[in-house]
Amino acid sequence: MVKTITVVGAGNVGATTAQRIAEKHLAQRVVMVDVAEGIPQGKALDQLQSGPIEGFDSVVVGTNDYAETAGSDVVVITAGIARKPGMSRDDLLATNAGIVRQVSEEIKARSPNAILVIVSNPLDVMCYVAKKVTGFPRERVIGMAGVLDTARYRAFLAEALDVSVRDIQAMVLGGHGDTMVPLISYTTLSGIPVTQLLDKAKLDAVVTRTRNGGAEIVKHLKTGSAYYAPSAAAVEMVEAIVRDQKRVLPCAAWLEGEYGMRDLFLGVPCKLGRRGLEKIYEVELTAAERRDLGKSADAVREPMAAIKF
Ligand code: APR
Repeated sequence: MVKTITVVGAGNVGATTAQRIAEKHLAQRVVMVDVAEGIPQGKALDQLQSGPIEGFDSVVVGTNDYAETAGSDVVVITAGIARKPGMSRDDLLATNAGIVRQVSEEIKARSPNAILVIVSNPLDVMCYVAKKVTGFPRERVIGMAGVLDTARYRAFLAEALDVSVRDIQAMVLGGHGDTMVPLISYTTLSGIPVTQLLDKAKLDAVVTRTRNGGAEIVKHLKTGSAYYAPSAAAVEMVEAIVRDQKRVLPCAAWLEGEYGMRDLFLGVPCKLGRRGLEKIYEVELTAAERRDLGKSADAVREPMAAIKF
């Protein structure tokens, strides 16, 4: 357990994230900060009052004032607008870049040693904005995308195979968008390559549904985007950091030559522990996976170029 975890943005993703953090006893103080007056305060009070029932005694604080966030150990950034039907994550670019820029300045000033877990979309570009503005080393700016995309992929595979999702091992790399790269060559059911169990057409259908996993939910909700699985994914990363678990999870990390690429955030296998990003694993890829990862990097670089500092 650490002293303070801040969640910026008390909307659907942020509030659910804060609640999960409290329920998992990850911090003594969970601070939700948002520009909307009354929202973080009301939600924090409501969550605090679930403590006696859920059995946690973390203090949950809601505020519009970053002073409350000072000295945070971990900061999860979920501030920004969410997608509506027909929007891609890149459609959020200009608005969310401004928001993440302002949030990053506030966090840098008050929590210079924090580890940042970025959730706002378009994810890989928002990680870049946060890293540029804070100047934090890459160990302390990590993006949540691959854990969510992998969870979706595993859920759909389990459904297609009619097996427990617990026995599906997989990783989705690349950018958090249509170009994400599920590593089929490393996907197994308890060690059995999935290619022995599903034909190409069925696997392709799972991959397509994974790529559209977020959009499928937006289409149903109409007024916003997914938040149960995204918050669960962010908290899995926070827990790995806070409890120094050395989990190996697909996360957006700033590449410095890994996979032959540099100066961008892209989803790669990462070891997470108390120091944040502790290692990037470079694994062998098939020619198709390497090509797809390159395409995914191009799709991240394009919106990145639109951001001026
Ligand atoms: N500082 C702090 N909070 C802000 C700021 C800001 N500058 N600007 C907006 N917010 C807050 C809003 O007031 C709102 O409460 O961010 C919150 C966003 O909440 P929702 O609209 O419910 O959006 P949510 O579904 O939580 O998604 C947030 O996460 O998954 C991504 O694509 C998603 O970028 C989106 C983000």
